[in-house]
Amino acid sequence: MTAKLIDGTAIAKEVREAVGAEVAALVAAGYPPPGLATVLVGENPASEVYVGMKQRMCKKLGMESFSYTLPVDASQEEVEGLVKELNDNPAVNGILVQLPLPKHLDEEAVLRTISVEKDIDGFHPINIGRLAQKGREPLFVPCTPDGCMYLLEHSGVEFNGANAVVLGRSNIVGMPAALLLVKRNATVTICHSRTKNLPEVCRQADILIAAVGQVEIVKKDWVKPGAAVIDVGTHRIDDDTKEKGYYLTGDVAFDEVNEVAGWISPSPGGVGPMTIAMLMRNTVRAAKIAHGLIEV
Ligand code: GUN
Repeated sequence: MTAKLIDGTAIAKEVREAVGAEVAALVAAGYPPPGLATVLVGENPASEVYVGMKQRMCKKLGMESFSYTLPVDASQEEVEGLVKELNDNPAVNGILVQLPLPKHLDEEAVLRTISVEKDIDGFHPINIGRLAQKGREPLFVPCTPDGCMYLLEHSGVEFNGANAVVLGRSNIVGMPAALLLVKRNATVTICHSRTKNLPEVCRQADILIAAVGQVEIVKKDWVKPGAAVIDVGTHRIDDDTKEKGYYLTGDVAFDEVNEVAGWISPSPGGVGPMTIAMLMRNTVRAAKIAHGLIEV
């Protein structure tokens, strides 16, 4: 038996269409199009690609996109100064500072400068703090873990009382994914480089989220039969036999895990398109908050 495929590409398209309809409804009601500002510091080629994709998607969905690039040696004051200007600009509803920042910058201080109401990445300490606390809700949830949860929910995976294992404890994916799973009443284990008996721990999981950044580390014998597996990793592997000279893969050995899992979200074609869709959704939410259409 093979796993049910969780088709992130198709599900993300549905989310984007719903977001596009919300944008059209806002504009028809006389509101300005929601606006997303991206801030890129330095010349990281991968970050440039991601930021470009975010800007193009804004335009496609009828939203405004404002793009700022600062030099690699920009000072803390310059970066925070730009964020403060964007906080004060009513055409900007969401502010995204692309991570990672160059090492000399204090990332937390930059994220803390973003207005909580414009923090569409959900990385502001107040939003993350609320995510970590019982009975409190952040204004925004980080996009990649939010996309993982959406895929699981859409596929009918049960969270209540499930054993969930998150591989990786990054601020961007692993930790917020674990917090979201706890909020949905899963019993959560977070694994990292010091975890002992990793395959055995993973085998207990009804829900396994792989966000550890290691090529195809999750093998067939790491997965409980019937489990839901979400692959967050993306790796580019050089391969001269491919037309492009490379292929993309994830943290999960797809072909073999597909034989035992109940559900599987592949990489590529899973969480990647969801991340951008959730970012667009958060930006529309920020616009609605700004216009008093959602009470927070
Ligand atoms: N770098 C990698 N993923 C992300 C993300 O979701 N948001 C931001 N701001 N930076 C990232």
